[in-house]
Amino acid sequence: MSKKIILSGMQPTGNLHLGNYEGALKNWVSLQDDFDMYLCIVDWHALTSDFDDTTELKNRIFEMAVDFLASGLDGKKCAIFIQSHVKEHAELHLLFSMIIPIPWLERVPSYKEKSQSLGLDSYGFLGYPLLQAADILVYRADFVPVGKDQLPHIELTREVARRFNGFYGNVFPEPQAKLTKFADVPGTDGRKMSKSYDNIIALADTAEETAGKIKTMFTDPEKLRMGDPGHPETCPVYALHKVYTNQGLDEIAETCRSGELGCVACKKHLTESINNALTPIREKRNDLIAHPDEVWDVLKDGANRARKRAVETMDIVRTAMRMTYDS
Ligand code: TRP
Repeated sequence: MSKKIILSGMQPTGNLHLGNYEGALKNWVSLQDDFDMYLCIVDWHALTSDFDDTTELKNRIFEMAVDFLASGLDGKKCAIFIQSHVKEHAELHLLFSMIIPIPWLERVPSYKEKSQSLGLDSYGFLGYPLLQAADILVYRADFVPVGKDQLPHIELTREVARRFNGFYGNVFPEPQAKLTKFADVPGTDGRKMSKSYDNIIALADTAEETAGKIKTMFTDPEKLRMGDPGHPETCPVYALHKVYTNQGLDEIAETCRSGELGCVACKKHLTESINNALTPIREKRNDLIAHPDEVWDVLKDGANRARKRAVETMDIVRTAMRMTYDS
């Protein structure tokens, strides 16, 4: 029996952080043996917001690929590739742009939010979720592992598939989102970990950088010195312990509450927990960075494999649309 097909994508933001690792990468790693998996670094999508300065784009793609591989993704098991290396995404996007009414795109929540807050008004930005639909459907994917925030985009993808199939016959399966349960990773300020909040611990951070970031974290504001009773449930340091400290969590909470445990010692413990989790990833990262050609080769090979499937789909699409003009 052939394996089910998975596609997911990520914008090349550069270095990934613990939130990306817990929320996406670990899950992808666990899926790569059982599915035919395509992982797309979506450089065209990055242009929908960062079109005016592309100097960092290549470096961000590289760093992201390094983080993928260091986290345990295997370029032989899944096709890791750059979106713009597989032009079929663009062709399918263009065909979709002919059949999808503009109001479908204007209704997508991320469009309304971001067009206002970020002042984005390009044609391509409106088409963001349609390009995403093309990313998914060009592989005729069965599942799309994503976070909750992406559900409206997956729903639109299903509507696009239905509309296309309605006009031209059954070409696209309707893909399903594959939501994962994972620990929500708070940032060093207690808010959700996010590059835009400047509160991240990156996979690329050294042990020392990690220690430094944890050292300057705010803790419970009512616990000023050792001996003061603390409130672990409101403390961002404890929130990170919950994700990264495997043993003795209750004891940390109790001794914090009683005042026995001081913040300095508690942070030291957290630093050890996080550094322990990251050491193997960091070692792999350093190996990869020493051989950049091998990383680019993984991306090239991934694109070649992805393209095979995408070309097949486009042949089916052109045939269904009676747009093969060979003879
Ligand atoms: N919009 C997705 C995000 O911001 C990125 C993305 C682009 C994607 N194409 C995709 C995700 C295809 C899943 C499938 O996270």
